[in-house]
Amino acid sequence: MTLYLTTPIFYVNAQPHLGHAYTAVVADAVCRFARLEGREVFFQTGTDEHGDKIAQAAATAGTDVRDYVDRVSAMFRDAWPPLLVEPDNFIRTTDPEHVKVVQRILQQVYDRGDIYFSDYAGLYCKGCERFLTEKELVDGKCPDHLTAPEKVAEQNYFFAMSRYQQWLIDHIKANPDFITPERYRNEVLAFLSEPLDDLCISRPTSRLTWGVPLPFDQRFVTYVWFDALINYISGIGYPDGADFARLWAGAEHLIAKDILKPHAIFWPTMLRAMGLEPYRRLHVHGYWSINDAKMSKSMGNVIRPEDMVAEFGADSIRYFLLREMSFGLDSSYSEDAVLARRNSDLANDLGNLFSRSLTMVKNFADSRVPEPGALNDEDRALRDASLAMMDEYRTHMRDWAFRQALEAIWEVIGQANRYIVGNAPWELAKEPDQAERLATVLGTLLETLRCITCVLHPIMPAAAGKMSLALGLEPGRRLDEQRRWNLLPPGGTITLGENLFPRIKRKKQ
Ligand code: MSP
Repeated sequence: MTLYLTTPIFYVNAQPHLGHAYTAVVADAVCRFARLEGREVFFQTGTDEHGDKIAQAAATAGTDVRDYVDRVSAMFRDAWPPLLVEPDNFIRTTDPEHVKVVQRILQQVYDRGDIYFSDYAGLYCKGCERFLTEKELVDGKCPDHLTAPEKVAEQNYFFAMSRYQQWLIDHIKANPDFITPERYRNEVLAFLSEPLDDLCISRPTSRLTWGVPLPFDQRFVTYVWFDALINYISGIGYPDGADFARLWAGAEHLIAKDILKPHAIFWPTMLRAMGLEPYRRLHVHGYWSINDAKMSKSMGNVIRPEDMVAEFGADSIRYFLLREMSFGLDSSYSEDAVLARRNSDLANDLGNLFSRSLTMVKNFADSRVPEPGALNDEDRALRDASLAMMDEYRTHMRDWAFRQALEAIWEVIGQANRYIVGNAPWELAKEPDQAERLATVLGTLLETLRCITCVLHPIMPAAAGKMSLALGLEPGRRLDEQRRWNLLPPGGTITLGENLFPRIKRKKQ
């Protein structure tokens, strides 16, 4: 089945950082994995450019808001290629096509009677760009922004979200995979066990002009979430585009826990009100902190993707992010932790296995894939472990359990390194009557490396590309085609390239 995967569209009031990079890398790895499985994939990301926060950020920067959003949006667009993140579409909420779709939907939902006008008095948090309930406050303040919300009394338009509450509860219960991991599904169900308020979806232009005007009342612009969520369908050509018709049934969204409520509650009810099917799945990840502290401009600890890539390279960063965080839980980032993984998992374990094996093929087999003889128990054990690893990897990747998928690969890497020590090919090379045994050992190692290379493609595309070249593998073969033994043709050329992961020295403090 087709996969249409999205990241959140990021606000342009801040520059790209580690948190955004994690989401982008996860999405990219999932898309590459789906392609490796032979699925059709469409991957969308982009920027969220309307609303108070953005208008204020532009004012603070002393720039015209349009110039400002163009500049920061471009920073997001440019942040992804160096991380080898390759979206198929980059949407901006200021795209005229998107704005047209938002207005069309507002009109349609209004005409159907699901948007109404009413008096409203509430506590408005500028940081959240929404009204908070008394219950949400901690010591009278917004718990996220630590500021007291303003009392605002005005007339506004409301989306009759509460009408769809029971439908949503039933849908979540009937589809256990709708929101994963399960803790977030439970959180949403707990939230839905209380009566749902309708959603205030307008802002008077006296307060905010940087938004999409309501088509039925020009005195208002729409609430930024009503605008932003629609990117997921406007970006693929809703209502009439062929892409929309083909892709929507395979829609899966990836977000962090901070924006669970808009995605798990506002968005499915909006879709229902539009007469559309809900998305297929919502995947929710945890939050990165830096050395156990919250990442923020004021703390001066914001990690920029370009700095991470410059220091460690894209593959190492991708590996670290996917290996270190259990999907769904929080995790802490530190340069030391990246360095440790780079030098131990990548340089020592994987890099060494690869270069040792290929050096031996160069020295003892004239850089050719040898014709193996009969396998003994140890050879069979490595073969079986490699093939079982591919199955395990597939299961974990399908479950978005990247950490476990990588652990399974590294088990085999460890086993292969021990296999080299145990069989000491350099000793076999000294004995002419051990030629067949040597060929079998080297052949078994090459096949193991082939399996490892295949599964690493979604995680570390550049390194896996180099490994493929070295092994003489043709690109584009599916996972199930590669889950076999003796695929490398005897006599094929093996090219020992540069070191995949040179050790990196610790920076002097
Ligand atoms: N514009 C909205 C989303 C609209 S989607 C229709 C928004 N933007 S945001 O720029 O604040 O991005 C939030 C997202 O950035 C999170 O859901 C997550 O994907 C990513 N992250 C931002 N900080 C993060 C961490 N510290 N850790 C992990 N991910 C984080 O919300």
